[in-house]
Amino acid sequence: MTGDASRASVLVVDDDPKSRLALRALLDDMGLRVVSAASGDDALRRVLEDDFAVVLMDAHMPGVDGFEATSLIRQRERSRHTPIIFLTGAYEDAPSVARGYEAGAVDYIVKPPVPEILRSKVGVFVALYEKNAELRRGILERRRAEERARRSEDNLRALAARLQRVREEEWARIAREIHDELGQALTGLKMDLKWLAGRLAPGQDALEERAWVMAARIDEAVQSVRRIASGLRPEVLDQLGLFAAIEWQAADFQRRSGIRCLVSLPEAAPELDAERSTAAFRAFQELLTNVARHANATRADVRVIVNAGTLALVVADNGRGIEPRAVDHPRSLGLLGLRERVMPFGGTVEIAGVAGEGTTATVSIPLAVK
Ligand SMILES: Nc1ncnc2c1ncn2[C@@H]1O[C@H](COP(=O)(O)OP(=O)(O)OP(=O)(O)O)[C@@H](O)[C@H]1O
Ligand SMILES: [Mg+2]
Repeated sequence: MTGDASRASVLVVDDDPKSRLALRALLDDMGLRVVSAASGDDALRRVLEDDFAVVLMDAHMPGVDGFEATSLIRQRERSRHTPIIFLTGAYEDAPSVARGYEAGAVDYIVKPPVPEILRSKVGVFVALYEKNAELRRGILERRRAEERARRSEDNLRALAARLQRVREEEWARIAREIHDELGQALTGLKMDLKWLAGRLAPGQDALEERAWVMAARIDEAVQSVRRIASGLRPEVLDQLGLFAAIEWQAADFQRRSGIRCLVSLPEAAPELDAERSTAAFRAFQELLTNVARHANATRADVRVIVNAGTLALVVADNGRGIEPRAVDHPRSLGLLGLRERVMPFGGTVEIAGVAGEGTTATVSIPLAVK
């Protein structure tokens, strides 16, 4: 069959062997695969097994005649659209042709056929069939390509999500170690220093003063350790949850940047798993960093809204307004990362700016898998 697969097939249905042979001979050099059926029944069997570019159907046959065979062919899924050309005797009248059309034929030819007419009519349907086959192949190919693209996008997304998770875990571990190990070492140092200072003989003012300076330096180092550790992974996020972490981050942001940052939260905090909390919090940090770096704003209003099973985090600044170009720009990696952050939960990020008035960013995260 494979050798024939590239050739269009034509089904010739006629109870008269001589007619079948004549039709075959006429179609012989058209490069077609010609299949013969000797009865209406036989034709019905053939169209179940094969796809035909066109069927040449003798109208009058004993048993299942051409009209009946045509309407049965029309009713079958596989042959529903297969064009059928009727072959009627020259003596037959208009009603017979009309019946053929009624049964579902698309054309008719008077027997004996004029070779040029037969060949040109068959040629039209074969060309149509081949065109259709080509279109179908194209559609199939495009579907496959889309499927491939979708799969590789899924893979990349899964990889990105995994990298985020690994990075968060790594940061949390480093934060814990810095906090615990360095923190304890510094606390120990400070106690030792106090002990030493307490044993200085009276009148050792220079040494005593140096001890004070050292103690102050140790305090600063403790502060740095806290700052670095909570920069990596804010304890408040794990201990008090997303809302507390947002308030803490906003206050910290205001203190450092001088940009007024007010937070409005819903009364009740929703149930939120650690991964969603982390994603929302990191998104928030990125948005605030952008306000500080790009907006030239004097205030940033933060609102959290929980509605219809979705948590929305809105950060609106009164700065220069993000350019539309920057929103979707492939090199806006911070914003891209933001989208990727919330993608695993079916979340979205919308950012819009008005020149000279400010930028509003909304991060939405569904609270549960839908
Ligand atoms: N709040 C804002 N106001 C005005 N412009 C903004 C704001 N946020 C972002 N932008 C613009 O959008 C661009 C893309 O932001 P994005 O966070 O993707 O990158 P980035 O902050 O420049 O670098 P990073 O990868 O470190 O985040 C910025 O370079 C800036 O021009
Ligand atoms: Mg950024």
